[in-house]
Order: sequence, then C-alpha cells, then structure tokens
Amino acid sequence: MTPPAPRDWDPERYQRDAGYVPALGRGVLEWLAPQPGERILDLGCGDGTLTAELQAVGAHVVGVDASPAQIAVCRARGLDAQVMAGEALTFEAAFEAVFSNAALHWMTRPDAVIAAVHRALVPGGRFVAEFGGAGNVAAVLEGILAVLDARGFDGRPVVPWFFPTPEDYTARLHHAGFTVERMEHFARPTDLPGDVIDWLDVFAPHFDALLPGDEIADFHAEVAQRVRQTLYDEVRDTWWVDYVRLRFIAQRD
Ligand code: BEZ
Repeated sequence: MTPPAPRDWDPERYQRDAGYVPALGRGVLEWLAPQPGERILDLGCGDGTLTAELQAVGAHVVGVDASPAQIAVCRARGLDAQVMAGEALTFEAAFEAVFSNAALHWMTRPDAVIAAVHRALVPGGRFVAEFGGAGNVAAVLEGILAVLDARGFDGRPVVPWFFPTPEDYTARLHHAGFTVERMEHFARPTDLPGDVIDWLDVFAPHFDALLPGDEIADFHAEVAQRVRQTLYDEVRDTWWVDYVRLRFIAQRD
C-alpha cells in the first residue's frame, strides 16, 4: 500500500486498526487462484499478510510497497520485498501474475501504474486486483470535507484517493493492452475494530496536514460526530465504514 504523505505508515497501528484489510482480501485471492511455481508480484503488499499466503501455496512472490516501514515488516517475516512505487516498477516480463489488494486507490497516476504492471507481466500474464471503486468511503469523505469547509479549509485538492467507475478503469486497462475478463463493483460495508476516529488517525493524514497540529483531535471528533448517524450502529455498538470495491481480472495481450 502506498504511504499517505506526509508520514509513513505506523505498522503496529496499522495491524491494530486496519488488520481487517488483508483479512477481507481473501475474495480477490480466490480470483487470483495462485499456482505453485508461479512468479507473482504483490503490488502494494503492505505488511505482507497476503504475500505470505501466496508464498505458502508455493508461488515465488515478490512484494513491493512504497512504504519503507511496511517493507521492513515484510522482510522481518522472511518475505522477498522491496520499496518501490507502483508507477515506477522496474520489472520487465518477470511475472505470470500481478496481484494487488486495497492499494491501487492510493496510486493517483493510474495510467502510469497500469503501464508499469503491463511491463512487469509476461505476455498472457494476468493482473488481478481489488481496490476502492466509485462511491468508496463516500460518507466519511463527505464528513471530512464538510468539517474542513466549516473550519475554512478546502480538503478537495488533497484527496489522496482514486476511486474509479468500472467503465473508467476498464477503458484504461484496454488502452494499455489488457483484455478485461471479469470486473465487479460492489458495496462492502465493513465493521471497524474500534471507532471512526481510529480510522481517521490511520487513513486521513493528508487532511490533518491542512490544520495546525493542536486542532487535529478536535477535527477528528467533529467528523465522527457528523458521520455518527450514518456510520454508527447503536444496536450492535459498532462503527462501520462504507467501503465499495472494484475487483477485476485482466489479461495482458
Ligand atoms: C480502502 O481500502 O478502500 C481505503 C482505505 C483507506 C482510505 C481510503 C480507502
């Protein structure tokens, strides 16, 4: 997963508050159907949870992530992992498959990423991924932008995410030389292990950077207050986030 500026991920915090991210990636892993001996690139591998699962089936896996902190965690668990941005992959026809879970939405130059994936694959290789699609985290984002507006800041220019429609992403894949075999766009409302403030602490640093440091805690509390009616389930005493996924299989021509 590409690191959100202005700071790197905190892997311990990530595992505590976002451990569900790889756990919920099992569906796209099934679409990948990794085979023993296959060379697979895990693009935006994060802390390597799914990279390790790919390795366990006997694939030769390389994980890449733009976060030095996450790559250090991958290496500590014995994985072959490198710090590398998705737009700047250095591999040439080196993999039968490129896999990615919950990372492509952090890469805001999608055409450069798709071109780099195309170069990294052998002809006929597959690109199998899941990430945030159009409408992803819409309630949280609306809350963030509204609270910033009220405080006199415009958060729109610093939105760090790319959440395309299936039509948009299909067109980009075709243009780059892929045939889309399957694509699904679906809501995946997701319960949080803690409250939405923890989610903002981990995932919203771009917006925090607009504010003086001593206003950030109040900012998060105001966003939580604003989205509470939508994203807090009183009956279950549980916060949830309105994730929407785009999942696809594309074959390099
Ligand atoms: C996602 O996985 O869709 C996501 C995670 C954090 C921020 C935005 C989107």
